[in-house]
Amino acid sequence: MKGLSSKLIHGQIEDSKRDTFRSLKTPIYDTASYDFENSESMEQAFRGNTDAYIYSRITNPTVTELQNRIKLFAGAENCLCVSSGMAAISNTIVSICQAGDNIISSRFLFGNTYSFFKNTIASFGIETRFVDLENIEEIEVAIDNKTRCIFLEIMTNPQLILFDVEKIAALAKKHQVILIADNSVLTPYIFQSRNYDIDVEVFSNTKFISGGATSIGGSVLTYKSDKWSKIPKLKPEFDKYGSDAFIKKIGKEIFRNFGGCLSPNNAYLQLLGLETIAIRIDKISENALKTAEFLQNHLKVKRVSYPSLKNSDYKVLADKLLGAKSGCLINFELESESACFKFIDELKMIRRGTNFCDNKSMILHPASTIYCDNTKEDKDLMRINERMIRLAVGLEDIEDIIEDISLALIKVN
Ligand SMILES: Cc1ncc(COP(=O)(O)O)c(C=O)c1O
Repeated sequence: MKGLSSKLIHGQIEDSKRDTFRSLKTPIYDTASYDFENSESMEQAFRGNTDAYIYSRITNPTVTELQNRIKLFAGAENCLCVSSGMAAISNTIVSICQAGDNIISSRFLFGNTYSFFKNTIASFGIETRFVDLENIEEIEVAIDNKTRCIFLEIMTNPQLILFDVEKIAALAKKHQVILIADNSVLTPYIFQSRNYDIDVEVFSNTKFISGGATSIGGSVLTYKSDKWSKIPKLKPEFDKYGSDAFIKKIGKEIFRNFGGCLSPNNAYLQLLGLETIAIRIDKISENALKTAEFLQNHLKVKRVSYPSLKNSDYKVLADKLLGAKSGCLINFELESESACFKFIDELKMIRRGTNFCDNKSMILHPASTIYCDNTKEDKDLMRINERMIRLAVGLEDIEDIIEDISLALIKVN
């Protein structure tokens, strides 16, 4: 099988691991624990000398199948699925950093990631140095011998900024710090971390992978699995795990101690979602581009961001990094906050809700929702203003999406 969809639909089931009843869908192994024939096999499993299942907080067959399928999807070396996108981010950062260390990131982040960096890890003594990731010199100045990683969102939510990943990756390599990329907005279908020097990719399975927002989940993927114990700063912590040290450290230590496991029911839904991900992203990206073009030509719309638009500031980077598709997110501005509220309230089909990559189109006003707890100063630095709307285009017929937007805009003074 060569094509991505064929691989995602069929997976790579080894004959020895087929379901007893040859079920064509991966069964949901909804169990907490597993039976052992004798004490010897139990001891070997606990010592990690076999891959027998012990307890579903640690490993579970349905989740393993999802991990294998996501590994195929991304062309990654390894993958660990966890309970949410935030669990993927938090487990990753905690696996690399200790009190006294620092990480480097831009302020253009999903709201909970920003809060995790600014508040949560800060209270454990890990500093986040917020820099302009579009300015390579500024990043270099911020790196010191306590810097463990650079973190970025490949396409930032909700600003839709793209960074020059190649340059940032070269800098990370030069200074021997880990580059972590959050690919939630695009997924490996649009942006392939394996083609860049990205060490760890994280994403929220909740978005495209779950098959239209059926369930919450997240993934951590590695690409340079032999690298970990070669980085002097990380050597003491990673040496004992040998090859593939990062996933082993998370899996054997951080992930099982924090307990953020993915439920087998959600893994099942996410396996179903993966089977149709390519056609959904193709169609959603087509719908999103047409919607962005419509908004751009509307007199009541002050500004539109969508990286594939011909006049987007990020068009050159989008063509290079993403090819022809930019996913479902658009942001645009109306005259005022009250105009945004009026417009959002007048929509009949598009749902007022906080998610994206759903099959349904969804809309929200970021400043008063996801970022409502941030100060005005923070919001300014994050380029979140009260005139901005985030629209996540769905899979409906494009005529219906545009009609809904068009009729609602008529009602805005
Ligand atoms: C860019 C980005 N990363 C991470 C997350 C967190 O994902 P989850 O809601 O699955 O925890 C989100 C959620 O919207 C997101 O937009």
